[in-house]
This record gives sequence, structure tokens and C-alpha cells, in this order.
Amino acid sequence: MPFGLVSAWNKRRRSKSEDMLNPWIYKPVEYWQIEDQNPPAAKRRHGSSVFTLKEMEEATNSFSDDNLLGKGGFGRVYKGTLRSGEIVAIKKMDLPSFKEAEGEREFRVEVDILSRLDHPNLVSLIGYCADGKHRFLVYEYMHKGNLQDHLNGIAEVKMDWPLRLKVAIGAARGLAYLHSSSAVGIPIIHRDFKSTNILLNTNYDAKISDFGLAKLMPEGQQSCVTSRVLGTFGYFDPEYTLTGKLTLQSDVYAFGVVMLELLTGRRAVDLTLGPSDQNLVLQVRHILNDKKKLRKVIDPELSRSSYTMESITMFANLASRCVRTDSSERPSMVDCIKELQLILHTNTKGLNMTMHTFRMI
Ligand SMILES: Nc1ncnc2c1ncn2[C@@H]1O[C@H](COP(=O)(O)OP(=O)(O)OP(=O)(O)O)[C@@H](O)[C@H]1O
Ligand SMILES: [Mg+2]
Repeated sequence: MPFGLVSAWNKRRRSKSEDMLNPWIYKPVEYWQIEDQNPPAAKRRHGSSVFTLKEMEEATNSFSDDNLLGKGGFGRVYKGTLRSGEIVAIKKMDLPSFKEAEGEREFRVEVDILSRLDHPNLVSLIGYCADGKHRFLVYEYMHKGNLQDHLNGIAEVKMDWPLRLKVAIGAARGLAYLHSSSAVGIPIIHRDFKSTNILLNTNYDAKISDFGLAKLMPEGQQSCVTSRVLGTFGYFDPEYTLTGKLTLQSDVYAFGVVMLELLTGRRAVDLTLGPSDQNLVLQVRHILNDKKKLRKVIDPELSRSSYTMESITMFANLASRCVRTDSSERPSMVDCIKELQLILHTNTKGLNMTMHTFRMI
């Protein structure tokens, strides 16, 4: 028997910030206060619709393999068409029973946080389905898939340097918004920022996805101590892994790793390489501020006519600061946006000057 929704916002009076700290209190829809009743029709609540299992099946042609977009730790992702005609991406929770509780927690956090966020560089949650044991998340469809596939995966045409800078700026804006208090009143740490969680639309606008591990930063605090280290290998802030101390700068570290992926076209972790080269940061960190050696790690697939060495040098320098071991030495995401804009400007100016010189000859 499908479960229905029983209540919207928690009515007890609390301060807004108190509610913000507790995702179990401040939630848009308490679908987990389950009650046996017929599922309600899809409704918009705080920007998120509620769907039935039948609607999910219809949208994906019964989860046909033809509609499969990819597979991640939470389950499979399908392209779907809603009754309204809207094209969406549907993430279906598919976990072994011993991982279901964890999946349920991530599902709730994702719905709770993402339905309250609104920014052009964050993927939109259109709705969800919680029907019996079934869990689905319904997102806006991102035509060009994830960034990693464009750098070292299936994409045939590799992105040129200005496009990579555009993606870096977009992703930086999304993270800066999360880190500011303008999103939900207090900062949010994403905790799973990585190239497969940066999705691209037809214009290559970057949008951050997957908020299941996100953490609200307690008001007035600079860090929070966690008992378990969660995230993805290759992107872990070393300070966080050693102490459990999670800060906004943990996301900055992960952002630095993505910058290195954009620069080198390599994966954050590549187990096909020798033991000393498997981790991208450890592999390239020492040469990021050495112009001569830096040339050797630039993605060979990057069109030479699309970048100037000056902009590459600036970019590598910023990335090296983002991945510093001491989190207090890393820049903020707002600083990153400013520097990346300057790098883009420097690149455009440099390329225009080269073109001009070329014409004069
Ligand atoms: N909104 C979307 N639009 C288009 N494609 C998407 C969308 N969301 C996810 N995908 C595709 O589905 C794939 C699987 O996504 P998912 O988030 O489940 O896993 P992941 O991020 O690759 O890895 P993990 O779950 O291990 O962190 C993505 O890599 C992406 O290509
Ligand atoms: Mg993902």
C-alpha cells in the first residue's frame, strides 16, 4: 500500500536558525510520518512535487535500459518524461538492505536541503516519490551529463580552455552560494563536491548536484566535528580525514581537486597508474608553481590555441592554494570566483593579442 503525505511544515514555534540546524525539524514535507492512504496527486510544495510510483514507471517506460543515464552509489539514474511533458532525470534508490538506512538518510537530506535552495548553479529538484520502500528523486534534466565524462570519459569533443574556465566559475558560484548564509540562513557544506556531481546543460552552464551528504554549519561556528568521514576518495580534505573536523574549506579542497582535473584531464584517483601516481593531488601538487614542469601536466587534449600560459599559471597557482593541507591557508569560494574571472579575462586578452600580432606579420 503506498504511503501518503500527512503534514507540511512543522507547526511548533522555534527560532528560524534553530530549525535550520535540524533537518529533522525544518523540513518541507514530512513524508516519513507515514499513514496508509491513497497517494495524493502531484503537488507543488516549496518548489517540489510529489510523485507516485506509477508516475515514475510511466515516465521512464518502466525503467527501461534505453532511458538509463548512469549509475552511482545511490542507484540508477533514468531519463524520463513527466505527464506534463517535462523531460527530467529520475534517480531510483537501489541499495542492498544493509545500506537502506543510510540511503534513506541521504534521501531525506537531499529533499530537505535541495527543495529550499534556488540558484542557477545548483541542479533543481523537481520532486520526489516516497512510495512504500521505493524512493525516487526527480531533477531537472541536464543534457550534457557530468563534467568528468567530458574530461576523461565518453565525450568525443574535449572542452577547450575558456569552456573549462566557464565551468569552474559556474561551479564556484554554486559553492559560494551554499557557503553564504543567503541559501538557508546559515552556511551549508556540500561534502561530496566532485566532477561527477557537476552537471552541464546545453550551454555548458555548470550545476552542482547530490546534496545527500550536505551538512548545515551550526550558527557562528567555523567547523563541526563529525564521527564518520563521508565523501569520495580523491576529494577528501586531509584535515577532515585526520580529525573529523569539517569546515567550509573542506569543499574548497574538493574544488581544488576539480580544478586539477580541468587542468590535467586526469581523474582524481586513477588506480590504473602506479602507486605513487594514483592520487592526482599528490601526483601534481609539487609542480603547480613550477612553470616549466607545469607544461608537462596540461591536458594533452586541450586545444593549444585556446589558452595562454599566463592563464594556466594563474589557474595552477589558485588550485595549489585550494588543496593546501592547512585548511586556514585555502582561499574562500568568493576569492576563487574573483580569481577565476581574472584568469578568464587574462586568457581572452592574451589570445586577442596573439591574434593581433599574427595578423600584423
Ligand atoms: N539531473 C541529471 N541530468 C542528467 N544526467 C544526470 C542527472 N543526474 C545524474 N545524471 C547522470 O547519472 C550519473 C549517475 O549519477 P549519480 O549521482 O547517481 O552518481 P555519481 O555522482 O556518478 O556517483 P556517486 O553516487 O558514487 O557519487 C551521473 O554521472 C550523470 O551522468
Ligand atoms: Mg552524482
